[in-house]
Amino acid sequence: MKNFKIVEHPLISHYLSIIRNKNTKKEEFKIALEKLSVLLANYEYASLKTETTEVLTPLKKCKGNVIKTKVVLLPILRAGLGLLSGFLELYPQAIVSHMGLYRDEENLKPVKYYFKFPEIKDKRGLKVIVLDPMIATGGSVTFTLEYLLNMGIKDIDVVSVLCAPEGIKAIEKRFSNIEKEIINIITCSLDEKLNEKGYIVPGLGDAGDRLFGT
Ligand code: PRP
Ligand code: URA
Repeated sequence: MKNFKIVEHPLISHYLSIIRNKNTKKEEFKIALEKLSVLLANYEYASLKTETTEVLTPLKKCKGNVIKTKVVLLPILRAGLGLLSGFLELYPQAIVSHMGLYRDEENLKPVKYYFKFPEIKDKRGLKVIVLDPMIATGGSVTFTLEYLLNMGIKDIDVVSVLCAPEGIKAIEKRFSNIEKEIINIITCSLDEKLNEKGYIVPGLGDAGDRLFGT
């Protein structure tokens, strides 16, 4: 996929190893995912547009910058909530929207149970950042992207932690007709494959269950 980026950083490898470890406890898992969210947010926000402004320091006027991009963060419930804190920490002005999906255990298709998005008439300069640590079959992200594209949104970044090649291929195929600038996928790792139950291998298991202790 053209707009697919694996973000590399020693701290990303460090925290990734913690969340992959099956012996990592719930609270350590949450903290490590939060650290990853800060690192990913730092990378992701580098694409925000700024505009110049005038700042009055205690001494004199000088040039400054303010963020021009309208940012909507869209965590896919539940596990996407684990990536929210870093994005809000670095840019608390972002609006937070929610997409509630779970995978049907039999057919692995996403089932929607909630969606809340702000009413934004002028979508110019709007960037939606979809947060979901796991892209397995790609079904949940595909569903969300279709939803957002139908709403007329033209700048969507998907930020994840682990991806399976099957999911990335499925997303690429489904949106091959969309201008390549519109969708970007950012992740920390492209893992080996999916197993017969649709889990990412080596992966980390069920992200939502590990984050919330269910
Ligand atoms: C997990 C994960 C993704 C989805 C990925 O959610 O958080 O949203 O699976 O799988 P896919 O690429 O095959 O769609 P899950 O359905 O387990 O819900 P949860 O976060 O509420 O546990
Ligand atoms: N969802 C998860 O939480 N983990 C996987 O490996 C696949 C889907």
